[in-house]
Amino acid sequence: MSDPTSLAELISRRRSIKQFTDRDPTREEIERLLELVAQAPNHRMTQPWRFYVLGPGARRAYGAALGARKAKRVADPDAAREVVDSVAARHEALPAMIAVAVVVHDNPEIREEDYAATWMGIQNLGLAAEAAGLGTHIKTGAVMDDPRSRAAVGLPDGERIVAIVNLGEPAAVPDPKPRVPARDLTTWVD
Ligand SMILES: Cc1cc2nc3c(=O)[nH]c(=O)nc-3n(C[C@H](O)[C@H](O)[C@H](O)COP(=O)(O)O)c2cc1C
Repeated sequence: MSDPTSLAELISRRRSIKQFTDRDPTREEIERLLELVAQAPNHRMTQPWRFYVLGPGARRAYGAALGARKAKRVADPDAAREVVDSVAARHEALPAMIAVAVVVHDNPEIREEDYAATWMGIQNLGLAAEAAGLGTHIKTGAVMDDPRSRAAVGLPDGERIVAIVNLGEPAAVPDPKPRVPARDLTTWVD
């Protein structure tokens, strides 16, 4: 039987989820979602995406890397350590965290296409999770290229992290943020 929820409804309903319940998504749930990510369009069938599903230790290490960057702005050493510990603990406590990476191609044109294709996959992940009753939150930033984050993920040379996607069962769904209607941003060109 096909899912009665329309794609339009899923797209409109999806929100970035910041609070999750205690239920961890199962390995099977995550595998099902990632198979849908791998259905994303990609030019030349490069299939450039790579997925790193981080367990508690890896999540803690990634959080510690992020925390260490934040702690650089904190002068007091005890307070700085507290920042690192709390960000690490917050990440460890997430129900699931997936680092979506891309294989970095030598050719700049293919590199750009592969990066774009990986984002199409990430959009699939958000919508497929929504359809499965799960929520996602995309996280990006310079931390993704930090050697400590790369080490936490176990990223090999030749790949870069495109996004971190937190995944879990939503405990709270934020209100939608207002969007400019597409018609106000559209030019119909003769
Ligand atoms: C490319 C990209 C990068 C993002 N990076 C972050 C991030 O680093 N931190 C964060 O809190 N949210 C991040 N987000 C989530 C956006 O803030 C969020 O999608 C936006 O506020 C709209 O809210 P909604 O997803 O609930 O509709 C990112 C989203 C995208 C598409």
